[in-house]
Amino acid sequence: MNLAIAAMIIIILILVILVARVILPISTIIFTFPPSIPTEKRLINDIVDEIAKSEVKGKKFYDLGSGTGSVCFSLAKNFPSLKIIGIEKFRFIFQVSKMKQYYLKYKNVSLSNEDLFQTDLSKADYIFTFLTKSFLDKLQIKIKQEAKPGCLIFSNNFPFDALPLYKKITYPDLFTKRYLYIYKI
Ligand SMILES: C[S@@+](CC[C@H](N)C(=O)[O-])C[C@H]1O[C@@H](n2cnc3c(N)ncnc32)[C@H](O)[C@@H]1O
Repeated sequence: MNLAIAAMIIIILILVILVARVILPISTIIFTFPPSIPTEKRLINDIVDEIAKSEVKGKKFYDLGSGTGSVCFSLAKNFPSLKIIGIEKFRFIFQVSKMKQYYLKYKNVSLSNEDLFQTDLSKADYIFTFLTKSFLDKLQIKIKQEAKPGCLIFSNNFPFDALPLYKKITYPDLFTKRYLYIYKI
């Protein structure tokens, strides 16, 4: 009997992990572009290290296209006094992030269901994106118009051509490389 319960718990756990890690990201390919694939931990760790170099109290971090919120929640855990704003256009993905927020209860995260091109970036101290090149080409015009001096911009794997590069971190992969680009206005 106990063995049966343990087996059932393991099966449920495997199913939950499968839905969260495989089925959900794959299904978002149908609903969203770019697909809602979460940023890897190693990139988030480097973003945390960069942000930790200065005082964050009262500062604002924007994840433009926040998906299911993994970057927002990781940063919220590391920096309780940093205000984190996640912007996600696609309602289904946004609702998943809201559900996570309901359980995680981070007071410093606010999630918004809107188009990132409508978001006011003038108060941002940090901006993060994991979007494709065509998005970045359009977004960099908005950043140049709105972002304040000193604002740090992090981009997962895709570069902004017209922003001043501050740092580029390379991550070796099996067949290719990934990059974290950091820009300073
Ligand atoms: C690759 S995911 C990144 C998710 C998260 N930022 C991360 O790195 O873990 C890109 C997200 O951008 C969202 N997105 C695409 N166009 C958008 C737009 N115009 N406004 C807001 N979100 C958008 C997609 O729905 C998707 O969830």
